[in-house]
Amino acid sequence: MKKFFYGKQNISKSDVLSVVKSLKTSVISQGTELKKIEIKIAKYCGAKYCVAVSSGTAALHLSCLSLNLKKPFYGVTSPITFVATVNAMLLSGGSFDLIDIDKDDFNIDPNKLKNYIKGKLKEKKPIPKLIIPVHFAGLPARMEEIKKICNRYKIKIIEDASQALGATYNGKKIGCCKYSDITVFSLHPVKSITSGEGGLILTNSKQIYNKLLALRVNGIEKKGSKSWSHDMKNLGLNYKISEINCALANSQLERLNPFIKKRKSIAKFYKKKLNNDFFTFQKNYSNSESAFHLFIIYFKKKISLRKKNLFYEKLKKVGINLDIKYRPIQTFTYFKNNFIINKSPNSINYFKQSFCLPMYVDLKYFELEKICKSVNRVAKDLGL
Ligand SMILES: Cc1ncc(COP(=O)(O)O)c(C=O)c1O
Repeated sequence: MKKFFYGKQNISKSDVLSVVKSLKTSVISQGTELKKIEIKIAKYCGAKYCVAVSSGTAALHLSCLSLNLKKPFYGVTSPITFVATVNAMLLSGGSFDLIDIDKDDFNIDPNKLKNYIKGKLKEKKPIPKLIIPVHFAGLPARMEEIKKICNRYKIKIIEDASQALGATYNGKKIGCCKYSDITVFSLHPVKSITSGEGGLILTNSKQIYNKLLALRVNGIEKKGSKSWSHDMKNLGLNYKISEINCALANSQLERLNPFIKKRKSIAKFYKKKLNNDFFTFQKNYSNSESAFHLFIIYFKKKISLRKKNLFYEKLKKVGINLDIKYRPIQTFTYFKNNFIINKSPNSINYFKQSFCLPMYVDLKYFELEKICKSVNRVAKDLGL
C-alpha cells in the first residue's frame, strides 16, 4: 500500500547532476553556487539583498541578531508556528509573547495586535520591539495592516516566510520586504524548493545586509587582502551553507514556478472534491496568492478528541498519514514553564479542529481522488 505524508521533496535528474557537479569543483563552501542562489532569489523576490544560510532557523536567529534591538526587549509572533520562530527571539537575548490567530485565516490577527499594544500602553507596560508574522501554510499574513501598526509604534518586522517562497501579496512577491525589515525563507525538504537544509534572508537595508554577512561567519569582517587582516566586531556563529546545498537549491529554483502551479492546482482539487458539509478551508482575506505549503482541513462542527483520533487512525489504515501543523507554542513545556504567555484561544481551537492533508508536487490526480474519497467517507462514517 502506498503511503502518503503531509509533505515531500521532488528531486529530478538535473538536481542530482547539479549536486555532483558542485562536488567536483575545488571550492565546496562559499563559492559560485552561493553567489548564484543569493542573486537569483533577490531578483525573483524583488529585494536588494539576499544572504543564504544553513537553515530557516539560522536565518531567523541571524535576522533577530542583525536588528540591534536594545535589551531587554521582547517580540511577538503567532502561536501557530514552528518553535524556531520563538527560539530565534530567545536566543537573541529577547523574550516573547503571542498574538492570537484569526480564526479563519490562521494567521496573526492585526486587530488583536492593535488591541494588545493598546492594552500594554494602558497598563504602562513595555510594548514589543519586534514582530515576526508567519505566512502560515504559505498564505501571506495581512502585512499592510501589520506594517501600519508597526510604523506607529516603531516595531521592527521580520516576516517568517519559511513556508511562503513563491507566494504573492498585493501583486508583489513575498520576500520583496515592502512591508518588513527582513524576510526569511526555509529550504527544508518539504518547502517550496529545497537545498536539503538551508535558509534565505532578504532585506533592502545595506546596513542589515552587511551585519548579516559578518554574523554568518562568526562575526568576522575582512579588512585587507591578507587572510589574517580581519576583525571581529560582533558575536556571530557559523551559519554558512555549503556549495552542495546551494547547487541543489539553484537547480530546484528552475522549477519553482511549476511547483507553485501544481500546489495551487492540488488545493483547487481538494476544495472541489472535499465535502463542504464537513470541512472549511483557510480563508484568504487579502489580495494575495498562497504558496500552498500545507493544505488544511478544518472541521465545521466541534469534534471530540476521541473522534479526531478515530479520523486519524482510520485514514492511516488506508495509507493517508495526516499531520497537524502546528501544536500551539503556549502548550510546549519549555515555554509554559518559563514565560507568561497570552492565552490565544483561537490557536487552541485550530489545533483541536484541524488536520493537514498530503500536499506536494509528486501527488497524482488519481491519488488525490482516492484521498478525497477516503477523507469524505471517514468523515461521514464518524458522523462529523
Ligand atoms: C514557520 C516556520 N518557521 C521556521 C522554520 C524553520 O526552518 P528550518 O527547518 O529550515 O530551520 C520552519 C520550518 O519548519 C517553519 O515552518
